[in-house]
Amino acid sequence: MSRTSSEIFDINNKVICLTGAAGLIGTTIANTLYANGAKLVLGDVNLEKLKKQFSGFDINQMLLMPLDITNQSSIAELVNAAKQKFGRIDVLINNAAIDAKFEKDSNTELASVDFADFPLDKLQHSIDVNITGTIKMTQAVVKLMIAQKSGNIVNLASTYSLVAANPGLYFNEGESFKNKPMDYLVTKSFIPNFTRYLATHYAKDGIRCNAIAPHAIDNNHPESFKNKLKQFSPLGRMSDRSEFEGAFIYLISDASSYMTGHTMVVDGGWTAW
Ligand SMILES: NC(=O)c1ccc[n+]([C@@H]2O[C@H](COP(=O)([O-])OP(=O)(O)OC[C@H]3O[C@@H](n4cnc5c(N)ncnc54)[C@H](O)[C@@H]3O)[C@@H](O)[C@H]2O)c1
Repeated sequence: MSRTSSEIFDINNKVICLTGAAGLIGTTIANTLYANGAKLVLGDVNLEKLKKQFSGFDINQMLLMPLDITNQSSIAELVNAAKQKFGRIDVLINNAAIDAKFEKDSNTELASVDFADFPLDKLQHSIDVNITGTIKMTQAVVKLMIAQKSGNIVNLASTYSLVAANPGLYFNEGESFKNKPMDYLVTKSFIPNFTRYLATHYAKDGIRCNAIAPHAIDNNHPESFKNKLKQFSPLGRMSDRSEFEGAFIYLISDASSYMTGHTMVVDGGWTAW
């Protein structure tokens, strides 16, 4: 018997753990997952912001936790609390990351530093969060998934996991030097192969792992940046945060049950030319 689209993409009652839930993508996706009946374990290093974003939500469906993915005790506290409240974790979304922004009020200090002079302590911090933190978080949750004999991991990649930043997007002739800080590209490049590693390593345990690579979410960027991005993007615009909801639901639900090890690009064609 054929299934309806709501059956195919059903995520009702799935227990989903989302890191970096107070941020731009985290908040958007958590709202979508909540509206579709998922049970959420939301963690962020910025607990105050997390509580503000999700005040008034049903606490039977949601657990808000302080979480620092660089700290194994903090991760263990979240995993234990999730087990206690919901009994399992079906899905882990590794979303938390350090990412220099180019919005109107952003600190673009590091964007003015060229590769050769990039401060190694800043690089180390990004490695600690984006690479080692993501690994620590996954280590803790995958143990639970192995015991459950099922699980689904979704990693946040980026177009910069796949291609270099176009210097023309950041640098304007006659102005001071600007570029996408290299710590982001270096650390995000790890995601696609980490995803393939987890997919092949844990397939036998009933655990799938895929990544999603979003691109250029419109969020209070200066007009000059938006205009440049329009020129370079095949679809000719930045993305709206809502345009990633479908990809997340697809990867989280059984609609993607035969898919593992893949990085799904949602980038308006940015990596197509
Ligand atoms: N915004 C975009 O256009 C875009 C594009 C491509 C990929 N991404 C990826 O999507 C993900 C989310 O991006 P975003 O734009 O929502 O970023 P964001 O900066 O708005 O959110 C990131 C969140 O992670 C949290 N965080 C940082 N360090 C942490 C730690 N040690 N432990 C726990 N939480 C921590 C922050 O407090 C923040 O709430 C990132 O992995 C990013 O690389 C974003």
